[in-house]
Amino acid sequence: MNSGTDTPVTVVGLGLMGRALTRAFLRAGHPTTVWNRTASKADRLVAEGARPAPTAGDALGASPLTIICLTDYQAVHELLGTSDGELDGRTLVNLTSGTSAQARETARWAERRGARYLDGAIMAVPPAIGTADAVILHSGPQRDFEAHKSTLDALGTVTYLGADHGLASLYDVAGLAMMWSVLNAWLQGTALLRTAGVDAATYAPFARQIAAVVAEWLPGYAEQIDSGSFPAEVSALETDVRAMAHLIEESEAAGVNAELPKLIKAMADRSIVAGHGGEQYPVLIEEFGRARDD
Ligand SMILES: NC(=O)c1ccc[n+]([C@@H]2O[C@H](COP(=O)([O-])OP(=O)(O)OC[C@H]3O[C@@H](n4cnc5c(N)ncnc54)[C@H](OP(=O)(O)O)[C@@H]3O)[C@@H](O)[C@H]2O)c1
Repeated sequence: MNSGTDTPVTVVGLGLMGRALTRAFLRAGHPTTVWNRTASKADRLVAEGARPAPTAGDALGASPLTIICLTDYQAVHELLGTSDGELDGRTLVNLTSGTSAQARETARWAERRGARYLDGAIMAVPPAIGTADAVILHSGPQRDFEAHKSTLDALGTVTYLGADHGLASLYDVAGLAMMWSVLNAWLQGTALLRTAGVDAATYAPFARQIAAVVAEWLPGYAEQIDSGSFPAEVSALETDVRAMAHLIEESEAAGVNAELPKLIKAMADRSIVAGHGGEQYPVLIEEFGRARDD
């Protein structure tokens, strides 16, 4: 079990994010070896105390734990596939953004080469790295996460999700879906209110209050989804659909884009045709949970 701030760590990939990760390790006191394809990006970090490795292989060999943060998984495979570095017994934490399938495939590839592998996702921008605001998700074998958690803690709020290597990527996109949905709903309302001379700043506190109320519903609605039972405790889907029609009508009358509410209403209409009109809103999970070809 590695512990303490004297544990060595390597960072491979010194783009905007990799440089922020390196600085967080340096601030926490970890001896930090760095490597980047374009070597000059290491210069300032070396002046700040990082140790430059001449090759990626040397960088991998310098520490029991290597953080990889490149553009995409193709770059990760190009680099590690050609590197002569010893991976046997090393732990790789790949914080490069990608899909769950890429994460699982890269885990199998790394394990065939004798490495321990955790996949990760960074839910933060570079300036937040090293603060509690930086949420960094990890998935893979729990023992490997526990072995390096005290080192990874230097990066922010470090979270373990489970043994399936794909979980970090899935949580990453699920979080983005949540973020964009809230923002899109707010933009729809803002566009409507601006037609009546209400500016965005006036509407924002009201919108924030609604978002907070809806967030309170999630645990109860999650119970309905997990149990597969959707009794209309506060409202039936057919009632919600009538309100969706109002939103579309208002948008079209005001000359505001109605594509988004029309898309959601079409899903709700299909659910009603399938017999779910008397059930509660989360029954729409059945629409969200299957792909459509048309
Ligand atoms: N920046 C953010 O706000 C943010 C937030 C969350 C997650 N992320 C994720 O973090 C990862 C890195 O993002 P970034 O902002 O640091 O990107 P970036 O500034 O564009 O850096 C990309 C890094 O990948 C390296 N690279 C690309 N192709 C390579 C290859 N074939 N072989 C070796 N190295 C290669 C680059 O090396 P060179 O310097 O030689 O080009 C550079 O170090 C991405 O997956 C991104 O989605 C970023």
